[in-house]
Amino acid sequence: MKTLVAPSLLSADFLNLGRDIEMVNNSEADWFHLDIMDGVFVPNISFGMSVVSAIHSVAKKPLDVHLMIIQPDKYIQDFKDAGASILSVHIESCQHLHRSLQSIKKAGMKAGIVLNPHTPVNSLEDIINEADMVLLMSVNPGFGGQKFIVQTLDKISRLKEMILRKNLTTLIEVDGGVDMNNAKSIVSAGADILVAGNAIFKASNPPEMIKLLKS
Ligand code: DX5
Ligand code: ZN
Repeated sequence: MKTLVAPSLLSADFLNLGRDIEMVNNSEADWFHLDIMDGVFVPNISFGMSVVSAIHSVAKKPLDVHLMIIQPDKYIQDFKDAGASILSVHIESCQHLHRSLQSIKKAGMKAGIVLNPHTPVNSLEDIINEADMVLLMSVNPGFGGQKFIVQTLDKISRLKEMILRKNLTTLIEVDGGVDMNNAKSIVSAGADILVAGNAIFKASNPPEMIKLLKS
């Protein structure tokens, strides 16, 4: 499979969000990555449903929504209504993860499980078959522009082994500090989707950066 790239709009220019969405629409990017933060699960607040909905009205690519919130189950239908195609929830914030994944799929979205840097890959052993995607955080969630945690590479390889051993087609997404210096090793370790915020939106030529990350 060709590597997919999902630009994280957290690093976009919010005063020119429409312009940045158009750039992504016209680029080789595959998905829009939207980071939802509640100031409780992570030490930052981003944006909510009405902004997701507005983005959806002009986005020409699927919305990959990453929930960094407590009690995500409460909002599954709201994110579906706002236009999410893929909805990912943190294993650390779901008391009944199996139920959360079922609800996401029942609402008509692809379901993703997110692991914080400290959460072991083997915690997925009895739940991974319910997920369409696993998102490995390669920084502590909450902010764009942080440094890639290099131990993530080993986690990606171990996750890939688990997926192959179980004969699954689960996709692996990696999020945090992804740039041109580490993209190759991340993909070689087994990642299918690269999320990138700062690397894309702070680049002098964002569409070209997207193209480079994809190749
Ligand atoms: C961090 C978010 C990321 C972030 C990535 O909590 O989940 O999606 O926006 O930004 P960069 O690529 O700048 O680390
Ligand atoms: Zn994210």
